[in-house]
Amino acid sequence: MTKNEQLIERREAAKIGGGEARIEKQHKQGKLTARERITLLMDEGSFEEIGAFVEHRSISFGLDKNRVSGDGVITGFGTVHGRLVYVFSQDFTVLGGSLSETHAAKICRVMDLAMKNGAPIIGLNDSGGARIQEGVVSLAGYADIFYRNTRASGVIPQISVIMGPCAGGAVYSPALTDFVFMVEDTSYMFVTGPNVVKTVTHEEVTSEDLGGAKAHAEKSGVNHFTASNDVEALRQVRDLLSYLPQNCDENAPYPTVNHYTAAKTEQLKTILPENNQMPYDIKKVVDCIVDDNTFREVHADFAKNIVVGFARLDGRAIGVVANQPAALAGVLDIDASRKGARFVRFCDSFNIPLLVFEDVPGFLPGTDQEWRGIINHGAKLLYAFSEATVPRITVITRKAYGGAYCVMNSKSIGADLNYAWPTSEIAVMGAKGAAEIIFKKEISEANDTNAKWLEKEQEYADMFANPYRAAERGIIDAVILPEETREKLIKGFKMLEKKAEVLPRKKHGNIPL
Ligand code: HXC
Repeated sequence: MTKNEQLIERREAAKIGGGEARIEKQHKQGKLTARERITLLMDEGSFEEIGAFVEHRSISFGLDKNRVSGDGVITGFGTVHGRLVYVFSQDFTVLGGSLSETHAAKICRVMDLAMKNGAPIIGLNDSGGARIQEGVVSLAGYADIFYRNTRASGVIPQISVIMGPCAGGAVYSPALTDFVFMVEDTSYMFVTGPNVVKTVTHEEVTSEDLGGAKAHAEKSGVNHFTASNDVEALRQVRDLLSYLPQNCDENAPYPTVNHYTAAKTEQLKTILPENNQMPYDIKKVVDCIVDDNTFREVHADFAKNIVVGFARLDGRAIGVVANQPAALAGVLDIDASRKGARFVRFCDSFNIPLLVFEDVPGFLPGTDQEWRGIINHGAKLLYAFSEATVPRITVITRKAYGGAYCVMNSKSIGADLNYAWPTSEIAVMGAKGAAEIIFKKEISEANDTNAKWLEKEQEYADMFANPYRAAERGIIDAVILPEETREKLIKGFKMLEKKAEVLPRKKHGNIPL
């Protein structure tokens, strides 16, 4: 056999990972192999592998006789939509995809390259966690990754796709990245698994209920995107990348050619219910304004009272944050504040302009919210908007009340343009509550207290249940018709294209975590 033939043979052997039987087991579980996943993620033929012959150095517990080329993770680079990305893909067929010292070093290597070359890193996670036979060097390997995740945060987009087990400390790498995708039924994430949970708290819970895609999409908010299988997850990752820049010094690809159905403008004329107490779906408003089929919701199943996601407006990638009157009347609570804040900070890190739709009756009252810290959590959203230097435009569609008005990208916290529809109500509080407080004496002394209350409520509503007091003070830049909104926004973002705002010099801020 020639030396060249030997190389080809070694390459082929490395491709088989843990062997045919384990590959078959992987397939039977509805999972693709680490290599198949990379093939689907990358543009055809673009993947270049690094470290295919790396092996672990461990000799304990028989590991010296169990060495597989690549050591359970495939690493390298390639392109998605023609743009450079780095990837690591854990191979469950090799020692359960467990993370050894050398496995971690391979991941760190591509992370370092991604940082130096300013391109996104995508981690495809499918691992039994720290390689138990190796002990502390494996733990140190995790810490090496966490450190790099943190250093890379805000420099390059980091995406984690959970496609199998991800347990123990291993969860903290995905948690430090920008977006987590999970595959239904085959992936789970938890700090401690069902057995430990049972021992400590006596709760009986399955892996799926404890840390499956649904649990993290709806309850914890750890999961941003749920896919029904590996293929769909990888397609979703490719799609998300098309909205993102390569790094913090670049802009998202622009312009992209999109279609806009002009008839959608007409729908906006009647999109709000006549009764201002009735709910409506803000996502329909967003859809009517942005380029056709370009809205991609993030965190769709978590804190549904706020909607966040990416879209395109005349080809320009934007981040949308919108109160959702169809869920909890669009009120801001702890989860909505956390969800909104995280999204705003991502967009600001990566130069993605922010478009805010506001219809918010206020913050959610109650002991649960107060005792769990709505003060601090609400402040996160306030902080995130106040700190953001990207172009920011707000459209008030209906209610803008109280502290929530200030928080939702008001002009006073740095929004560049604030528009309001004629249906807007911009005030300290709703007319009923306001009348009760400021006309308390008058109401209590009236012969017919109810009639007096109604009269005073009307008086307050006449004064503030409109956008004109705010427009008179310049707090609103223009009152616009719903059907004018798209054009105004396109022109607004174009005008703000070269916006350059610099934060005061500091080491870093102290966001109320
Ligand atoms: C070494 C491991 C391994 C691990 C699995 N394997 N996990 N080898 N270290 N952590 C090996 C198995 O021995 C087996 O080898 C192969 O991978 C497949 O595993 P199975 O158990 O047969 O697969 P399955 O039934 O699908 O179960 C998957 C699993 C289970 C649920 C992940 O393997 C498991 O519970 N593993 C241990 C998980 C764990 O406790 N990890 C440490 C977490 S603590 P063979 O040769 O038989 O195919 C942690 C700390 C990180 O990670 C701290 C960071 C700060």
